[in-house]
Amino acid sequence: MDRIRLRGGKPLEGSIGIGGAKNAALPLMAASLLSEETLTLSNVPHLADIATMAHLLQQHGVDVSMDGGNGTPEGRTIHLNAGKITSTLAPYDLVRKMRASVLVLGPLLARFGEAEVSLPGGCAIGTRPVDLHIMGLKAMGAEINVENGYIKARAKQGLKGAVIRFPQVSVGATENLLMAAALADGTTVLENAAREPEISDLVQCLVAMGAMIDGIGSEHLTIHGKPSLRGATHKIVPDRIEIGTYLAAVAICGGKVELTGARLDLIEAVAEKLVEAGCEIGQTTRGISIARNGSRLKGVDFLTAPYPGFPTDMQAQMMSLMAVADGASMITETIFENRFMHVPELARMGANIVVHGSSALVRGVPKLTGAPVMATDLRASVSLVLAGLAAEGETVINRVYHLDRGYERLEDKLSACGADIERLKD
Ligand code: UD1
Repeated sequence: MDRIRLRGGKPLEGSIGIGGAKNAALPLMAASLLSEETLTLSNVPHLADIATMAHLLQQHGVDVSMDGGNGTPEGRTIHLNAGKITSTLAPYDLVRKMRASVLVLGPLLARFGEAEVSLPGGCAIGTRPVDLHIMGLKAMGAEINVENGYIKARAKQGLKGAVIRFPQVSVGATENLLMAAALADGTTVLENAAREPEISDLVQCLVAMGAMIDGIGSEHLTIHGKPSLRGATHKIVPDRIEIGTYLAAVAICGGKVELTGARLDLIEAVAEKLVEAGCEIGQTTRGISIARNGSRLKGVDFLTAPYPGFPTDMQAQMMSLMAVADGASMITETIFENRFMHVPELARMGANIVVHGSSALVRGVPKLTGAPVMATDLRASVSLVLAGLAAEGETVINRVYHLDRGYERLEDKLSACGADIERLKD
């Protein structure tokens, strides 16, 4: 298994290209199941999770082809044709690798009247049920049974429009139901829907495929179902978590970097906290610039929340910054129940963090020291990279396959800006 070795203490200078959003690409790829015509997606990041979704779709019979070079600034283009579906079963072996596989449930059920999708099960950051996905599809007339670890769904007469109010904001459930509703008979209203930019990206693509959807960007989406959708071409929105992570990298290392292709409006809640902590951030013609010169970061409090709140997917990275900030920081996680696995690893590097339930009190220390650490999930892993970039001495991060799920050429992008980071191949 590959490892990453870092030696901390170098400021970052230069520019970093931002790729397309993994969390937008995954539902967009699943949306190809809604049409017998080709869906072409551009700005697709080169990541392990994208390959897993491509594999799952191929296993359903989707014809998947890709062009564009690995690592080109514009990412790759992927063509998906679901003209001949051979199976509506999403097997355990693929779903357990990646929870977002459950996003094939809505489109398969809506177009073919049946789908059998393995239950994703828990993951490192919490139990993560899919009850809201199931509740919404049932409200649209599907018969759903959970048997032998599979969600077995049928809607032989097709899905019907319904009014669905989510008791809790869910990105995945909003996406699954949006896709299902696009082919349902009648109008579906989703209330308390997620508003993440990846949802708006999916809405835009569905509209390009011929769907009629009102309320884009709001928590109230109205979908007028169509009997069929056409093919389309869609460019994937920039990855706001990749943007936030590199902003955090510059914040913790100091220096000045331009993130090309980045948009400030996607990451305002994080940018505001970084400015409060002492960084200078601005939109440029090519992207976002960030600088931190001289003075130490200041501790700031924050709370994760659905968009436009502070993203849970940036909580771990921000905690690394707070570990070396001047003063204390109270961090509260409201989305996932077990998302502090990076805390013991940061503590091994000298951080002073106390967890009480869903809050972590971080008392900033003057410096962290390098240590061998273990990556536990995608964002926890990258928080250890950030800590290592700021630490004195050498840090070796094990189990970096987590990083490869969500960060394209992370070590190349950081080392091009002066970081001392390399991948050790095993
Ligand atoms: C997506 C993102 C993930 C991000 C998360 C929250 C993708 C591929 N992944 O995950 O990176 O951290 O949004 O921004 O886009 N819940 C239920 N029942 C359900 C569904 C969700 O109780 O049926 C709960 C979850 O356990 C969690 C909360 O709702 O506590 C939010 O989860 P959700 O927004 O659905 O996250 P994902 O779509 O899985």
